[in-house]
Amino acid sequence: MVEEVPFTDIYMDDEMIQEVEAVLESGRYVKGPVVESFETSFAEQCGTDYAVGVNSGTSAILLGLQSLGIGEGDDVFVPGHTYFASVSPVLELGANPIFVDVLRDTYTMDTDDLEAKVDTAENPTAVIPVHLYGQMVEMDRVTEIADEYDLGIVADACQAHFAERNGRSAGSIADVGAFSFYPSKNMTVAGDGGMLVTDDAELAERARALRNHGRDDDGVHRHLGLNHRMSEMLAAVGKEQLQHIEEWNEGRRRAARHYDERLGNIDTVRTPEVDDENSHVYHLYVVQVPDRDGFREYLADNDVDTGIHYPTPAHEHPAVVDRVGETTVERAEELCDSIVSLPMHPRLSEEEVEYVCDLIAEYYE
Ligand SMILES: Cc1ncc(COP(=O)(O)O)c(C=O)c1O
Repeated sequence: MVEEVPFTDIYMDDEMIQEVEAVLESGRYVKGPVVESFETSFAEQCGTDYAVGVNSGTSAILLGLQSLGIGEGDDVFVPGHTYFASVSPVLELGANPIFVDVLRDTYTMDTDDLEAKVDTAENPTAVIPVHLYGQMVEMDRVTEIADEYDLGIVADACQAHFAERNGRSAGSIADVGAFSFYPSKNMTVAGDGGMLVTDDAELAERARALRNHGRDDDGVHRHLGLNHRMSEMLAAVGKEQLQHIEEWNEGRRRAARHYDERLGNIDTVRTPEVDDENSHVYHLYVVQVPDRDGFREYLADNDVDTGIHYPTPAHEHPAVVDRVGETTVERAEELCDSIVSLPMHPRLSEEEVEYVCDLIAEYYE
C-alpha cells in the first residue's frame, strides 16, 4: 500500500561510492584523468565532438555565451518561462535579454514569437532555447532563424540529458549545449556540476581556457576567466551515472505515459504535450490545473509531494526588472499561475502513479 509519494529520488550505489573512494585515495582532485574521461564519454553519448566539464549548469551557459563573444550591447533571446539561471549569465555579461513567449502545451519556446522579436531587435546576437522539463525546442526552426539573422545558439539542456529531436540529442543542435548535474536532475554528480558540449574546436578550446582562469595550454592568461572547474570526485560519480541514464529516462517516460493515460480523462487537468519529432525525458511532469493551491494542499495532506517550476516568470524577477525594466510575456505569465509538477523519477512505481491519480480524480470530482 502506498503511504507517501516523494517528489524525486536520487540514485547512488556502491560502484559510485567506490569510484569516489578511488579518487580520494589517488590524491588528484582537480584537472585530472577522471574529468577527461567523463568528458569523452559524455561527448560520445551526446553525439558532439567535444565536452568540457564545469562546476555548474550556470557556468556552462555563461562560458558558452562568453566563448561566442557575447557581451555588452548584445541582444540575447531567452524564454519568459524558465529557471532564472537561463537568464542570469546574459545579465552577468552585460548583454540584454529579450524575452520570448512559450507554447502552452509543450512549455517550450514559441519560435513564431522568437522570429518576430529577432526581426525587430536592434542588435540580435544569440538565442538560448531552453529544453524545459526535458523536451527539446523546435530546433530546426531555431536553426533556420539563427542562420538568417546570424545568431549564436547556446542550448540550455540543463533539464534534458539525452532528450532527442529526430534522433539528435539535446545540446548537439546548437553552437554550444549546456547541462546541469544538480542533484535533482536526470543524472547528477552528487553535488554541483555541469557540462558544455560543442562541435566547434575553437569554441571548445576557449571554454576550456575560460573555466581555468582564462589560461591557455601554454600557461598564458589570454582571456579573462575565473575558476569554473569540475572536481575529479564529482566526475567519478557522473561517469557511473552516465551508464544508467538511458534506462532512467525510459523509467521516466513509462511513468509519464501512465500519468497521461489516467489524467487524460480528467477534463480540468491539462497534461503536457509532446511534439511528434521529440523524445521527451520528463525531468519534470507538469500539468495545468484550476485552484492550484487547494489542489496542492489536498495532495500534501495525503503525503504526495508536488512543486511549482516556476512560480515567477523569468522576466519578473527584481534582479531582471532592475536591469531591463518591465516587460510582458503573456503565456509565460499565465502558466505560472496554473502549473504544478507531479512526482517524477525513474523508479516511480505503477502503484504510486495510481495513488496520485486517484487523489487527483477525487479532488476534481
Ligand atoms: C533550465 C535550467 N537552466 C540552468 C540551470 C542551472 O544549472 P545549475 O543549477 O547546475 O547551475 C538549471 C538547473 O538548476 C535549469 O533547470
